[in-house]
Amino acid sequence: MKRLTPLILGLFLCFSLLGMFSCRQPDTPPSDPEDRMAWWRHDRFGMFIHWGLYAIPAGEWKDATHYGEWIRHSAQIPIGEYDQFRDQFNPGEFNAREWVKMAKEAGMKYIVITSKHHDGFCLWDSEFTDFDIMSTPFRRDVLSELRKACDREGIRLCFYHSIMDWHHPDYLPRRDWEKDRPAEGADFERYVKYLKGQLRELITTYGPLGILWFDGEWESTWNHQRGKDLYEYVRGLQPDIIINNRVDVGRDGSMAGFSKDVEFAGDYGTPEQEVPATGFPGVDWETCMTMNDHWGYNKNDHNWKSSSDLIRMLADIASKGGNLLLNVGPTAQGTFPEASIERLKTIGRWMSVNGEAIYGTHASPFPFLPWGRCTVKPTATGTRLYLNVFNWPQDGKLRVPGLYNPTQKA
Ligand code: GLC
Repeated sequence: MKRLTPLILGLFLCFSLLGMFSCRQPDTPPSDPEDRMAWWRHDRFGMFIHWGLYAIPAGEWKDATHYGEWIRHSAQIPIGEYDQFRDQFNPGEFNAREWVKMAKEAGMKYIVITSKHHDGFCLWDSEFTDFDIMSTPFRRDVLSELRKACDREGIRLCFYHSIMDWHHPDYLPRRDWEKDRPAEGADFERYVKYLKGQLRELITTYGPLGILWFDGEWESTWNHQRGKDLYEYVRGLQPDIIINNRVDVGRDGSMAGFSKDVEFAGDYGTPEQEVPATGFPGVDWETCMTMNDHWGYNKNDHNWKSSSDLIRMLADIASKGGNLLLNVGPTAQGTFPEASIERLKTIGRWMSVNGEAIYGTHASPFPFLPWGRCTVKPTATGTRLYLNVFNWPQDGKLRVPGLYNPTQKA
């Protein structure tokens, strides 16, 4: 039995049992996809970073302040006005090593950063566009600095890359409110070449990558054929890369991230801002979640989830066999918001004691436990259960209903 740091959940307890539970086991002979997914299934916890020009308005435009990375669209900012943020982007306090260390100290094993979000701005030195970091006064290749820092700290670098692009002249459709960007002459096939060229550039310059995390696949110009083709193209560039399901059009119209009962490309599902009520045996999934209500930095969003809620969320997700990709939206100066730093530190303190109950674990065999969550790990002689106690039963007795195996030790 281990004691927790004062703040948090109660305790996690280990139970070693004789015999296996019939939950998903890791010792089926590995096929290629199994090999490829092994690190991801083990690591369980990553950092999402939404960073780009939208950090400058920081959620505020004219009289409203509810925007994040969608600000150009939601506030209907003409392209000429939005482009001015490029001339202002100069995050003098950006320090890749500090960012990566903060992720690592929180117990996160991979970082997924927006190489390009929907606004089309590129965080690296791209030979295919001037709408990139090298055209800002900052003129430092953010992705290259992160690559070095990740290598140093042993963190996997991954990119979020938007298929939808509100800046490239060949991307279609235009936003329905846009008056100043006629669609005449636009050629979507040419855009797909641009997209592929940039992905090749990203993988060959900054790879090998852990994940390519696609998004913005829902507009009319994208379809299953294109999704499948892009999936195969990226896999051809780096055979062991992991690619999320948003490369294709398999989502069912909701944010749930699970795919319709049709063939679709993609290695895992991406429920957004929600934790599924149950796990999905045989399906890989990762919840992506904000710490407040926005992905991109919003200076007026103070609706932060508490550290203990986030820790419980991580335990809950692990108990259902999923991963958590927890978001940080850095400021235009290049710093993480203070509230995010506090939460990362607290999660890190918990993970340094209890990480064993998260990494390399499998879904709980119990459909419901009244006092918390359970994760499972096979051992050489049986099975170990990690009991994450959110609320101690009032009578002080922790009952594990449905546990019939002989117990080796607790
Ligand atoms: C969404 C949003 C986006 C955010 C993302 C995170 O689809 O369009 O702004 O990057 O999902 O999952």
